[in-house]
Amino acid sequence: MKVNKAVFPAAGLGTRLLPITKSIPKEMLVLVDKPLIQYGVEECMCADITDIIIITGRGKTAIEDYFDRSIEHEILLKEKGKHHLLKSVDEISSRISLTYTRQKEALGLGHAILCAQNMVGEEPFAVVLSDDIIDSDTPVMKQMVDIYKNFRYSVLAVQRVKDEDVSKYGIISGKEIEKGLYAVEDLVEKPELKDAPSNLAIIGRYILMPDIFNFLKDTKPGKGGEIQLTDAIKSLLQIQPVYALEFEGNRYDGGNKLDLLKAQIIYGLKNDEIRSGLTEFIKKSEWCRN
Ligand code: G1P
Repeated sequence: MKVNKAVFPAAGLGTRLLPITKSIPKEMLVLVDKPLIQYGVEECMCADITDIIIITGRGKTAIEDYFDRSIEHEILLKEKGKHHLLKSVDEISSRISLTYTRQKEALGLGHAILCAQNMVGEEPFAVVLSDDIIDSDTPVMKQMVDIYKNFRYSVLAVQRVKDEDVSKYGIISGKEIEKGLYAVEDLVEKPELKDAPSNLAIIGRYILMPDIFNFLKDTKPGKGGEIQLTDAIKSLLQIQPVYALEFEGNRYDGGNKLDLLKAQIIYGLKNDEIRSGLTEFIKKSEWCRN
């Protein structure tokens, strides 16, 4: 069956980006001219995904407002002949279905995914963590769906990370069956370096078989006292294969200030409106010469 649906967990408190995340959901932080979540949604659209399910929590209404129509803006912009300013978000609302459900308690990523069970049903589905910003020629979700079409089992996005970063991620080990594609053999959520089975880290893109829900229900709180998706995938592995794709692309951690700034520059240089001004600014700048 085709991957039609994507779940976007967006109930987290964004503590790494405080104080701004007191009032602005981290998914709504702007990258050049669009909120982070919109990049993830557009990536899914490129992979022919038609249904987006956003798991929200308290203080996240800005996400719903953003994707909703704003009649006041539409009227005002029409009068001024500037309706193109709403084009990219209008196109999303007209081409895909967006639904929302609430995660009432912050019990972890695994629990957030479980909240989407009824909306997903018995279909394979994607998961996108929108603070993982991935710049690639072929959108990462498209790369993953292409693998899914061949193997018809879960696919995780992975990337090699430095030893000192291993403890920040879910880590997999596996057998390389094609260049950059692994049949997963083990998974550990945020291990200490000495316990890590490799340095292949899970990055926030997944395609999961619906069987994962049965395991999520039984997953006990793990690392950090949270219900971990990684632990449920480890259980899923006992009944069916799971694959991991070392994707093509550069990833920036939107929850990290330096990475977010790097992403602003990279995406700014790709933006027709500001490319030349930004290039000129960087070239002329004296601030990093000494
Ligand atoms: C989550 C997952 C982790 C994964 C990471 C990718 O962790 O639990 O396995 O490696 O996303 O960004 P978080 O960063 O939400 O703590």
